[in-house]
Amino acid sequence: MGIDYSKITEGILREDCFDPEQLGKCESIMSLGNGYLGLRSATEEHYLNETRGIFVAGTFNKFDENEVTELPNGADLTAVDIFIEGERFSLSDGKYEDYTRELNVRTGELYRSVAWTSPKGRKVKLSFFRIVSLKRLHVIAQRIEITALDEAVEVRIRSGIDGTMTNTGSQHFSDGDKRFYEKHFIQFVQTTTQSDIGFANTTAHILYVDNEKLQEEPEVFIERRKIFAGFDKRVEAGQTLAIEKYSTVYTSRDKEMEGKSLADIQEISLGACRDAEKAGYAMLKDESSAKWKEEVWDKAPIQIKGPAIDQFAILFAQYHMRLMVPKHDNRMNIGAKGLSGEGYKGPTFWDTEIFLLPYYIFTDQETARKLEEYRYLSLPGAHAKAKHNGYKGAMFPWESAWLDDGEVTPEFMDVDIVTGKPIKVWSGIIEQHITSDVAYGAWQYAVITGDEEFMERYGYELIMDTANFWASRLEKTGTDGTYHINDVVGPDEFREHVNDNAFTNYMAHWNMVKAMEYFHLLKEEKPEIFARLDEKMNLEAAYREWKDGSERIYLPKPTKEHVLPQDDRYLSCRDIDLTKYKEQEHVGGITRDFNMEQINQIQVSKQADALVLFFLLENEFPAEVKKATWEYYEKRTIHDSSLSLSTHSVLASDMGEKELAYSLFQKASMIDLGTFMGSSNAGIHAASFGGVWQCVVYGFGGVRMLDGKLRINPSLPNEWEELAFTILWKGQKLAVKVAKDLISVQNLTGTAEVEIEICGEQKSVQEELKMMM
Ligand code: BGC
Repeated sequence: MGIDYSKITEGILREDCFDPEQLGKCESIMSLGNGYLGLRSATEEHYLNETRGIFVAGTFNKFDENEVTELPNGADLTAVDIFIEGERFSLSDGKYEDYTRELNVRTGELYRSVAWTSPKGRKVKLSFFRIVSLKRLHVIAQRIEITALDEAVEVRIRSGIDGTMTNTGSQHFSDGDKRFYEKHFIQFVQTTTQSDIGFANTTAHILYVDNEKLQEEPEVFIERRKIFAGFDKRVEAGQTLAIEKYSTVYTSRDKEMEGKSLADIQEISLGACRDAEKAGYAMLKDESSAKWKEEVWDKAPIQIKGPAIDQFAILFAQYHMRLMVPKHDNRMNIGAKGLSGEGYKGPTFWDTEIFLLPYYIFTDQETARKLEEYRYLSLPGAHAKAKHNGYKGAMFPWESAWLDDGEVTPEFMDVDIVTGKPIKVWSGIIEQHITSDVAYGAWQYAVITGDEEFMERYGYELIMDTANFWASRLEKTGTDGTYHINDVVGPDEFREHVNDNAFTNYMAHWNMVKAMEYFHLLKEEKPEIFARLDEKMNLEAAYREWKDGSERIYLPKPTKEHVLPQDDRYLSCRDIDLTKYKEQEHVGGITRDFNMEQINQIQVSKQADALVLFFLLENEFPAEVKKATWEYYEKRTIHDSSLSLSTHSVLASDMGEKELAYSLFQKASMIDLGTFMGSSNAGIHAASFGGVWQCVVYGFGGVRMLDGKLRINPSLPNEWEELAFTILWKGQKLAVKVAKDLISVQNLTGTAEVEIEICGEQKSVQEELKMMM
């Protein structure tokens, strides 16, 4: 009981019973949003264990010197206190029946309904509807219906704006203006304490009885950081009182607010609230769900003929991938929890390039480009980090927040189980593979889209500047003349201070080789761009360093059993029985038994490491190495990161291990969608949604960009009859359908031929192609 899949064929995820102790899961997984703002689906009424949250992309603030910057939890706009005959509506009191909470991922509407009998025995039916508009990025709309079931009741409503929200105690805002306009609109202004970002929140209420609009003037209550409207209304038996609440959020960080005073922004917030109210809930909902259809469901449809839960898993992933992405603004990127919770505080990791970006590149190139432009715009922070550490070029932050913040990874976290002291987080200092991941993302974007203008403005520079970092990072310590990258954390964060992590070294090599390739291309074909970049980074000298670095960098070689050593120590560490951790319901079990130093001595991995390489540089490794390495590490991987299962699933598909691939996909798709109520309290797992898409399109659909070419080599799970999806390739939209033994590719754009290697055969598709498999 809890999460219920009975309506998933309608695109609806349900919660079928309410547990006031387990609120975090649905607050996160049923959250609403539009990339500008994310709203946790906390209920209108308050509960002790709730975590209300509203996050506006890019509004980072640093609470004080001892804390890292984070996305502040804005003023709450959705709480509504309802009193029936003086008794506060709460499912913790009285009795209730017919409870349902439903997120419709197709329309982006949240619905909740319950019949409640108050402790005094008054019976009412309550229904709650809520959207965050996908069309009007600043608008939240709610509708609440209260029907008196047996006898007339006095209803009291207290609803407004509550600026006392904190990020688990860190108050990021100073108190600001409270306004009451035209005896109707209420407004609350707050400003972040360090980054000085003004927020103007406006709210208005309209009441109806049996659909007849009432001209109620609210009573206004003002307290510290709070402004509220109050309404008292008698509802006759059988009558329905409806309250519609319209709220708007604007901030001085919004691009279109640049140069405007806070007073101007207050006016704009008020105007937008007035417009939203004029439109009304029904219309706002319709226009928003039409936008969902146009922007997501019609644009990148994915159909699975197989178990309904698999189809829903991909819809759910697409839903969240739209919520989390600030596609309106290239100065922002995706956080590890999207905009759905305080977890990880909001910055961007390698999760974007390696796990999420492929979805956007293949389905929505404009958005993908914005994500990569963000990296270009944050180059100043990457330069500062390189300089600070004594290197050259661009050393990207492991965690990246506002453009010039540079590195924002916290220094300490949790408690060491052995010493009782805070655990030092090394990622911000030595998890350096992020730099080549960024370069890889830019390259991948440009190759798949064919967006040469991006490369000319940003891409060549990003790839060369990151190669500069690697050339300066190499340690010339090999007695045989080889260069090494010592003391790093690779993707597998259980292994700290390792030397020659295979992923890091191979990707650094790739980065330098790519820069050399572009050096020649620019020199021969685009002399003006060559000249511009030459002026910035002295390309001839840089080239010599890339060449020397790429020729001498130590690239770990597979053992005679074909296993690629993850680093210089892994294979000689001790093995322990990992069953307990492999079977755990919740991550983190091992860190309660061992500290990091001890984990470092065990052959255990948190997540895919060397395996991610096989996926990014597929053509560089022979099949027997991939298979042996997969088998060696999977046994020792406890998937303590949500980024791990999908990589394993895709590679299992590549190896033809259908059943394994499918069971790993099932697990990956349940990270947030599953019934375990404790999994998502701090927010959804953003990268895992990209991973689910990759399992489907890369794994089962067999799609891959390899050395700049498109390959489709499907491997449908036995449980599926058909898989259909669309992908964009160099401006052409392809509809791919895979059945048991047939594949068809239709070029929906049809303005150019697309070269594809399909199931090992070279084809060219301008219209449609059908092939037996
Ligand atoms: C993982 C990283 C990931 C981060 C944010 C960590 O637990 O180990 O690979 O980037 O979470 O999702």
